[in-house]
Amino acid sequence: MVRSTYYLHSYGCQMNLADSGILSAAMEAAGYRPVSDPAEAGVIILNTCSVRERAEARALGRLTELARFKKEQETYICAIGCMAQRMGRALLERVPEIDFILGTEQLFELPRLLAQKNGLPIVETALGNTLDWAEYTPTPDNPYSAYVTITRGCNNYCAYCVVPYLRGPERHRPPQAILDDINHLVAAGVREVTLVGQNVNSYAHESVSFPDLIRLAARDTDVARLRFITSHPKDLSDDLIDLFAVEPKLMGHVHLPVQSGSDRILEKMFRRYTYAHYRRLVDRLRHARSDIAITTDLLVGFPTESESDFELTLKAVRDIRFDAAFMFRYSVREGTWAAENLADDVAEGEKLRRLQRLIDVQKGISFEVNQWEVGRIQSVLVDGASRRDSAVWKGKTEGHKTILFADSGALLGRIVPVRVTRADSWTLHGEVSR
Ligand code: SAH
Ligand code: SF4
Ligand code: F3S
Repeated sequence: MVRSTYYLHSYGCQMNLADSGILSAAMEAAGYRPVSDPAEAGVIILNTCSVRERAEARALGRLTELARFKKEQETYICAIGCMAQRMGRALLERVPEIDFILGTEQLFELPRLLAQKNGLPIVETALGNTLDWAEYTPTPDNPYSAYVTITRGCNNYCAYCVVPYLRGPERHRPPQAILDDINHLVAAGVREVTLVGQNVNSYAHESVSFPDLIRLAARDTDVARLRFITSHPKDLSDDLIDLFAVEPKLMGHVHLPVQSGSDRILEKMFRRYTYAHYRRLVDRLRHARSDIAITTDLLVGFPTESESDFELTLKAVRDIRFDAAFMFRYSVREGTWAAENLADDVAEGEKLRRLQRLIDVQKGISFEVNQWEVGRIQSVLVDGASRRDSAVWKGKTEGHKTILFADSGALLGRIVPVRVTRADSWTLHGEVSR
């Protein structure tokens, strides 16, 4: 008899974290209890990512490691999410111990399928029209800050990106289902909700637009803080930007992936905006809220990217001065437009050099930008102890920066004023201001 405990680990983006929260709720409703040690689990679940080759390599390595537990205990090994979706049954050739391979639309079926398991591996990767996961309010990873999915899928088909093929077409949840989730989470102690989708700005349900949805969430729920991720520059509307000026529950942070500073590359990526358009958005956001934190994604080494294209990206980074950036080198993803139509012609060594250069420049900028915070008082949601030192507490500022400070811990889950005393590139340090 397999134990009714489960271990769940997620790779990848906030969509995956949000899906894991929903699956946790479904597992718990079916009588399974979460454990943090796979050695104690009757069901071992890995929610995987496929966005770059390295993300897959990491997930495959971890699956192989987890599969060893089958020798020592009776347990099921479950590969779910994006890599499961992409590889399907072929994953069994790499890790034969796997019992369940469930794609991005099928993963919520795990509790039901566990009850039916009869020996053979179960592989389900049909891209359906799943909206009925909505019956579960996600179990948040962090008890004070939770993700709520508002859209699934993506219709953008950026030339490099595999996500639309793995998550299907864009679908929007009804506003009431989203508000119900927020209300349930708030009743359970959550203070901050992040609305999640690959492209939240295109949210539209009947007459409700994305800014309408934020207004509804601010007005009709008791959540203290609202955030959203991810925004696409082509769809970020003035209506949404204006909300930053007037809606105090909306936190001053926007993650707005620019990818490149070269219009030629942006066009080849099918991003459908120019750098000038992006730059104007930044100006408008800063005009709406002067201290708004702006973060981005940057992709170097896309096919045909020349040194001068790359220089334009560096120029953009210096010009905009992002608070932080996730930086990647291009990785060919089978089936995408770029993989099928463009040669991967920037040498690996050159991609690495550009990436390192970009990281160095951005690190310096993040450091400088963060110095501006020193001496200021930030409103901080206290969400746990520091991993390195349990006497040090951590929280998130309105701009979504991590801040560390010493305190008794009685502040857990509260929103408190913290004076910033020191800042490095990725973290702020401070003291509670009384
Ligand atoms: N939906 C989000 C991003 C999803 S993927 C958006 O549109 O902004 C997160 C980031 O991974 C992307 O912004 C891009 O910078 C990077 N990425 C996507 N595909 C990639 C690839 N093939 N190689 C390297 N990085 C990639
Ligand atoms: Fe990928 Fe582009 Fe969709 Fe983002 S918007 S998930 S980068 S295709
Ligand atoms: Fe990865 Fe899937 Fe997200 S491929 S980035 S987990 S949508």
